[in-house]
Amino acid sequence: MSPPVPVSVGVLASGGGSNLQALLDAEADPDWPARIAVVVSNRADAGALERARRHGRAAVLLPRRKDQPREVHDQALVQALRAHGVQWVCLAGYMLLVTPVLLQAFPDRVLNIHPALLPAFPGLHGQAQALHHGVRVAGATVHLVDGGCDTGPIVCQGAVPVLPGDDEAALSARILRVEHRLYPMALRWAAEGRLRVEGRRVQVDLPAGEATSLWDPAP
Ligand code: GRF
Repeated sequence: MSPPVPVSVGVLASGGGSNLQALLDAEADPDWPARIAVVVSNRADAGALERARRHGRAAVLLPRRKDQPREVHDQALVQALRAHGVQWVCLAGYMLLVTPVLLQAFPDRVLNIHPALLPAFPGLHGQAQALHHGVRVAGATVHLVDGGCDTGPIVCQGAVPVLPGDDEAALSARILRVEHRLYPMALRWAAEGRLRVEGRRVQVDLPAGEATSLWDPAP
């Protein structure tokens, strides 16, 4: 029997793309059920575009024109994703708010990773917000994207300690390490059809030995 065809994924990224890299690296597993077909960025200098090219994936630059409504931008985005047969979309450090145009084109099929334990600290600078509030545990969340800002149903979370003396850079680096484990895990579940949305919660039909939370105690 021939192996199942991997699910085609589009990644949207505005920055360096270390989460994109984690998703690309996961494809080294011969049984990996997802393949990144295209990376789209709003920024010409995004490291993510360079990583896509290096891995032989389509790299699409789609700058946001300030004179256009966000919906018009997302129409072009949906076109680019469809042109590459995309079935699931991963936001990985994508700094533009997405509109219903994207969400209706990929209903319950848009994932995002956020560097905080949602619903605490949505929006920008989740790590700085965590430090400001003096929390002792921080982390990252993968969630399905809905119309709000980091409000969608939670798929999985990874926690790390906040250590005395942490600044934003130190905490961000610790969180990023857990992000790189979390996002491939969530994408695999998505591609394997294990996610079921029930109201504002996601039920995961978990593979044996896996949990929807991670704890990384290393400093
Ligand atoms: C990550 O911290 C992610 O959680 C946030 O943006 C950052 C992107 O980092 N949404 P990278 O570009 O994947 O390295």
